[in-house]
Amino acid sequence: MKEINILDKTFRELITEQEINSRIDEIAKQINSDLAGHDVVFLGILNGAFLFAADLYRRIKLESRISFIKLASYEGTSSSGSIRELIGWNEDIRNKTVVVVEDIVDTGNTLERVFGELVIRKASGIKIATMLYKPDAYKKDIFLDYVGFRIPNDFVVGYGLDYDGFGRNLPSVYALIK
Ligand code: IMP
Repeated sequence: MKEINILDKTFRELITEQEINSRIDEIAKQINSDLAGHDVVFLGILNGAFLFAADLYRRIKLESRISFIKLASYEGTSSSGSIRELIGWNEDIRNKTVVVVEDIVDTGNTLERVFGELVIRKASGIKIATMLYKPDAYKKDIFLDYVGFRIPNDFVVGYGLDYDGFGRNLPSVYALIK
């Protein structure tokens, strides 16, 4: 079992790089087939989704665009609950099918905020793709169309996710043990 230390905490590998890669292959295949013929914009949620968005998008064969917005709501190892501003909208998504690309859906607060904004901006279709999903923490009823891995309600780092800014560069996902 691979263990790593980040700052004052110890984490153990939960999902390997290979598992991540083959899951992204499957999700990309599914999106390529589901959204063929749609006018698609991928919308990555920074910072955490930058690796998943890059790895997913390079496997996408649809004629499409990708854009990123930022909305940070997390500090340390527990959700602050407060949602900050959405910044970086520079894409007209009216009448487009938008695929929201998230690193993780935890409480769903972030997702709900983004989803609401897409409705206001009149996206014609909204799909959600998330690398990780914590079903025990999720409090919303927005359907998650493409889920990489369902994970327990533990704090995780790696593959874009951070602990106080560190660990985003780890190629696999690690869960907090102590
Ligand atoms: P939510 O709004 O509670 O669903 O949380 C969404 C955001 O919080 C994610 O996009 C992550 O940036 C961050 N987050 C949630 N859970 C974790 C975790 O276990 N590790 C690191 N960041 C997390």
